[in-house]
Amino acid sequence: MILDEYLDQTFIHEDRLLIAIKEEIAEKGMPPISVPPITGATLFWLIKTASRRRVLEIGALGGYSGVWMARALPDDGQLTSLELRADYRDLAQANLARAGFKNRVTYLVGKAAESLRLLWERGAQFDFFFIDADKESYPLYLDYALKLAEPGAIIAADNTLQGGKVLNMSNEPAVQAIQAFNQQVANHPQLTSLLLPIGDGLTVAQYCP
Ligand SMILES: C[S@@+](CC[C@H](N)C(=O)[O-])C[C@H]1O[C@@H](n2cnc3c(N)ncnc32)[C@H](O)[C@@H]1O
Repeated sequence: MILDEYLDQTFIHEDRLLIAIKEEIAEKGMPPISVPPITGATLFWLIKTASRRRVLEIGALGGYSGVWMARALPDDGQLTSLELRADYRDLAQANLARAGFKNRVTYLVGKAAESLRLLWERGAQFDFFFIDADKESYPLYLDYALKLAEPGAIIAADNTLQGGKVLNMSNEPAVQAIQAFNQQVANHPQLTSLLLPIGDGLTVAQYCP
């Protein structure tokens, strides 16, 4: 048995709804790139134990990580989610509604960089960020997260091990971007950070200005 399987079997309670979201994603021919259960449970744990109320997700797909995070929020908590594709947004929105969060989630469709600029112009602020979209843009998403972060905000980013490729020199733009992102997070004077080796790697940082 591999480590993630042991963790999933021992600690994770993936219910019927979460399983159904992944099945629907497969049926629709969408890519099977939702976070693994251990990462969903870690996001839930971080949001719950840190009493977060305003979550910003970058990359919604079918709403799998969105449901994990929304379930950790208090009754007045809000999830804002950015997604490139309107059809993916539709599925994520339907799944969040099915999970009981219809009025507590807002989707912005289009390139995340544009949506982030819009949120910044509006003066939006968040206390939790989950970055899980196009890897080449992670450094840019970090810059925006820092502009939109309340003091004490937590920034989490998925796929920061890139299947282990971050350990070595690489010509792949996605791997190079994640290496730059991890360096940026690790060396930022106002971030306290760590890379959790679960799933494909979850980099977590707290913004302490
Ligand atoms: C790994 S999936 C997100 C999975 C989701 N967080 C989950 O675990 O359920 C990445 C998503 O980012 C979206 N995406 C890719 N590039 C994007 C961009 N430039 N702006 C916004 N979303 C983007 C993709 O359409 C895809 O739905």
